[in-house]
Amino acid sequence: MQVELITKQKIAAKTRVVAVAEGPKLSPAVKALDTESNGAISQAMAISNFKGEQMEIMDLIAPIPRIDRLILVGLGKNLDQLQAEDLGGKIYHHLQSKKVTSAVLDFDGPIVEGPEFDATSLIALATGLLLRSYGFDHYHTKKENKSFHLEEVALVVANPDDLKPALDQAKALVSGTFMARDLVSEPPNVLFPASYCDRVETLSEIGIEVEILDEEKMAELGMGALLGVGIGSSKESRLAIMQWHGGQSDDAPVALVGKGVTFDTGGISLKPGAGMEDMKFDMAGSAVVVGVMKTLALRKAKVNVVGVIGLVENMPDGNAQRPADVVTSISGQTIEIHNTDAEGRLVLADALWYTQTRFTPIEMIDLATLTGAIIISLGHEYAGLFSNSDELSNALIAAGENTGEKVWRLPLHKNFDKQIKSDIADMKNIGGRAAGSITAAQFLQRFVKDTAWAHLDIAGVAWHKKDQPTVPKGASAFGVRLLDRYIRDRFEQ
Ligand code: BES
Ligand code: MN
Ligand code: ZN
Repeated sequence: MQVELITKQKIAAKTRVVAVAEGPKLSPAVKALDTESNGAISQAMAISNFKGEQMEIMDLIAPIPRIDRLILVGLGKNLDQLQAEDLGGKIYHHLQSKKVTSAVLDFDGPIVEGPEFDATSLIALATGLLLRSYGFDHYHTKKENKSFHLEEVALVVANPDDLKPALDQAKALVSGTFMARDLVSEPPNVLFPASYCDRVETLSEIGIEVEILDEEKMAELGMGALLGVGIGSSKESRLAIMQWHGGQSDDAPVALVGKGVTFDTGGISLKPGAGMEDMKFDMAGSAVVVGVMKTLALRKAKVNVVGVIGLVENMPDGNAQRPADVVTSISGQTIEIHNTDAEGRLVLADALWYTQTRFTPIEMIDLATLTGAIIISLGHEYAGLFSNSDELSNALIAAGENTGEKVWRLPLHKNFDKQIKSDIADMKNIGGRAAGSITAAQFLQRFVKDTAWAHLDIAGVAWHKKDQPTVPKGASAFGVRLLDRYIRDRFEQ
């Protein structure tokens, strides 16, 4: 779907979307249409009890000859940026369900005594429209399943040129989000470590430096923790490194590290069959890193960022890692495997250590669908945040509130370490039922030296089983908007 900015003179589409404030209160533009329709619009509002409450929608067919469909949208009494985004998502869904192919959105003109609906709100609305327009439909072969009708939405503004840069930034964000959603949505027979890398390599076209480490190279570096996870799979493991150089050449980069388990069967500690298909999304953390890199490059962010993703498939096999195996990580620390299904932390252990020793980042943020336990703690609303830095945590929490990708901080404490003590190695990879997400984070912390670090456990928010206002059901790409905003507010001011 295309979103463009036009002036009033350029209105062509016969579907018109207009705003009404709670009351209902009409803008001059809507009042003019009401007069032209001999009062049909206000009559329809009265009959259907339409008050202009936030998210209320009313659809009028052919109220005047030159308009096929007039859609009244309620703004309520006041509307913040996130509500404007959600409203955009709702409008998209409505237009789509009515099989509209092209629409004009005209919120122009002050709404009498209504909420302020300024340029920023309009861009937020456009962002919501675009985010909701995502669909993954590569594998339906029957036409009726290909249900994307809406091709373009034109937003009426006084000066399109003034708003173009802000709309382009929104499009960069949407593009990174969609790439992340595509990666997560792909089936695991199509998207495995090597084929994933082919997609990452396409980012070099937009100025990102991409480097891929294969198993041989990782073995040479001593990444026994990551390699052990992939050893039972016929698909070779990979580590992909992406660098965006948008800042000063001597500025230390921000590092983003992602868990990319392209499919998690659990390995020899096999997961139950029911719901195992969900585990194609176990690479969502890595996909978010890729999506953020793409967004930063497209909007030419003035910052240096490095993204590192560990790509493996966790399979049971004659060669697979066993519970009781001991592996040596790149840090030199040894790990006794007690459950091959606690594999994400093994992948991240090597990826985190490698990232911080090679790049000396100013700070390091990892994202992972790490534990089922985080869903028990925080459900599908908040991602879990663990960090050794209050400053970094607070900035991430603020970015979460501003983007709607909310994070909730949970503790780290040395007393949890006893849960991951091993009799024969430096640690074991599980800590028992109690505080499962914390012991996982505690494990990761052992592979972080003195770098400011945050870990986001996104297991509960990476995938939605139902539509959300700006996320159609399926992959959310939770984290792209959060980190884009975080980086912008903290490093690009
Ligand atoms: N990928 C899973 C975590 C997960 C579970 C993500 C459900 C999304 C939804 C992870 O690799 C895993 O299997 N974790 C285990 C850890 C346990 C063995 C200590 C878990 O959460 O059960
Ligand atoms: Mn697992
Ligand atoms: Zn996993």
